[in-house]
Parts: sequence; structure tokens; C-alpha cells
Amino acid sequence: MDLMIQRDVDLADLSTFRVPARAQRLVRIEHARQIRAVVDHPELGVLPKLVLGGGSNVLLTRDPSGVVLKIEIGGMHVVQDDADSTLIEAGAGVAWHDLVCWTLRQGFGGLENLALIPGTVGAAPVQNIGAYGMELSERFDSVELVDLTTGRSATLDRAACRFGYRDSLFKGPLAGKSVITRVRLRLPKPWRAQLGYAELQRHLERAGRRDPSPQDVFDAVCAIRRAKLPDPARLGNAGSFFKNPVVNRTIRNEILDEFPEIVSYPLEDGSYKLAAAWMIEACGCKGRSVGAAAVDTRHALVLVNRGGASGADVLRLAESVRAAVRERFGIELEYEPVLV
Ligand code: EPU
Repeated sequence: MDLMIQRDVDLADLSTFRVPARAQRLVRIEHARQIRAVVDHPELGVLPKLVLGGGSNVLLTRDPSGVVLKIEIGGMHVVQDDADSTLIEAGAGVAWHDLVCWTLRQGFGGLENLALIPGTVGAAPVQNIGAYGMELSERFDSVELVDLTTGRSATLDRAACRFGYRDSLFKGPLAGKSVITRVRLRLPKPWRAQLGYAELQRHLERAGRRDPSPQDVFDAVCAIRRAKLPDPARLGNAGSFFKNPVVNRTIRNEILDEFPEIVSYPLEDGSYKLAAAWMIEACGCKGRSVGAAAVDTRHALVLVNRGGASGADVLRLAESVRAAVRERFGIELEYEPVLV
């Protein structure tokens, strides 16, 4: 199979941070079998490989060596539709938000809480995308992937993917070792609005939607996101740069004694998620900048490229925010995007 190898490619527009970087080689992947061809290729086979989807959860701090695989596998279809659920499948290169819109147009609710999340379908399981009271893992059925060493395909079910909060097998043991080519999602019937996220419920009540439809929930999520989060098409960013730290009850109570206003959420296992955005803001970091990289003035979890920032600027800024939170709260923040 022929492969088109592009050389010395500008990557600035291939990641939503829009920081400068160049790829020595880049191959656009439109079919899963092209990955096998890359693995078997005399020049490319032995090189390190970086997989890029929508580039919305990656920070390029250097020029990646080897070959960049830009995943552009398309297609969305209904696999099975029965009384209990609808099983849908999409190619890894489909934009996640386009899939959400497509399911709603087909009359299938179930993904509306995850509207407007930037990035591709193939990237969604990697960090187990989540927002407004829902995580991908709740709708996930299986993935097809191709092993980057052997070129073989495999299917993994939900249990095998070991999903956690913004975490999965693909960020851990499988990181850099495989490419997700297709994703299957199961949308349960009957549809029920998932309104556990207080702000979403308040928004719908204010709009007079006491018995909301999937479209109402979609509209509300889009409105909240547009009001709170910068649009990567206008201002370079990768969504939340930091994860919300999870701590045990003792640590949470110690912090609460000293900072009674801190925002935290109890989790099912008895631990607590602390709002990192609250802590960053409490440290006075909102608006802090290094070069043209800045902590967003609307949402403190988001680092933005005001124009002309390098990946190194963003990383230095992230480190200074992390140091401030460590000093004040004794908590080590973790980065959410993948650093290259
Ligand atoms: N807050 C502040 N300052 C800010 C922003 C928020 O004090 O600048 C406080 C808010 O008052 C609120 C709390 O922090 O009480 C939580 O804020 P928010 O509801 O915006 O949620 P989050 O925990 O900061 C998470 C996800 C987002 C997701 C939202 C909504 C993570 C790392 N981030 O943010 O995901 O959209 O919940 O569900 O879990 C992403 O991952 O890229 C992302 C945007």
C-alpha cells in the first residue's frame, strides 16, 4: 500500500495550543490498513511514532522525532438498534462534537452532556473525556486499535480499557504503543437526562426546561461551555491543563480547616475531588503569564496561548502554577494534556 510521506511539516495548526513545532515526517492515516503499512515500511517502521488526533490534548514542547501519524479515519454509523440501547460506531478521525450532533440528528440522546469537547473520537477514550456530570466510559462499548510494533488489530472492551478520571490504559501501559482506529458507543434506552451537575440543572431550570429533551441538555451544555471556556479556534488552549486532585478525607479536612471556602466534591469511594481552579485562583495565579502563555482570566484551569507562545513558555507557566499550589496547599497538581 502506498503511503504519502510529507516532510518538514509545520505542526502549529495541528494542535489546538498552536505552539510552533515541525515534524520531520508526517503521514495522514485515512484507513486502518495504512497503519500496518507504516509498521512494515522500510524507512518508517523503525522510527518513533507520535499519534495526533485533533491535537486538543497535547502540548508540543519540541519537534517530535520520527514520524507523526495524523489520524483522519472517518465514518459514523448505527451498528445495532434494539429495545435497550443503540450501538454506534465512528472512525477515530471524526470530530467528537460532530459525532454528538450526528447522534442527536438521528434521534439518539446519550452524548449531549459531552457536547463541544474539542478533539477527535479516537482521542476521547485516551483521557476518558468528561464534562457536566458524564464521562465517556459510561457510554463506551469498545475500541478497535492497531499495535504499532506488530501492525496487528485488536478489539478492547470497556473493562480492558481501565478507565479512570481523565485516565485509561492508553495513557498508561499502552501509551505510544497503539493507534485507536474506531470507537463503539452504547446509548442506553430509554433516554434519561443526566443532570447531576448542579450548574447544568440550574441553567435548565432558569430556561424553564423542567422536563428537558436531549436537545435542551445539549443547548444548555453548549451555552455554559461558551460562557466559561475559551474557544480553541479563537485562543490557543487544550482545555483544562490540570486535573482536579483526588485526596482522602483526612487531607481534605485538614485543608478545609485552613481554607473553609475551598470547593470539593465527595466521590463514591469516600475520597474527595478538590477544585484545582479554585486553588489556582486562590493563589492569585489567574491571568499570570510567561511570555504569551497565560492562565485564562475566565477559567483558571485553562492555560492559553495569547499569540506567539512556545510550548516551553506554556510548560514554564504550568510549573509556576504548580509550585504556587504546592506551596499554599501542599497539593501536587497533575497535568492533563500529553506532553511531547
Ligand atoms: N472555579 C474557580 N475559578 C475558576 C474556575 C472555576 O474558583 O477560574 C471554581 C468554580 O467556582 C467551581 C469549581 O471551581 O466551583 C469547579 O469549576 P467547573 O465547574 O468549571 O469545573 P472544573 O472542575 O474546573 C471540570 C473539567 C472540565 C469540565 C468541567 C465541567 C477537569 C480537569 N476539568 O472542570 O473539563 O468541562 O469540569 O464538567 O476535570 C477539560 O478536561 O478540558 C475540561 C474543560
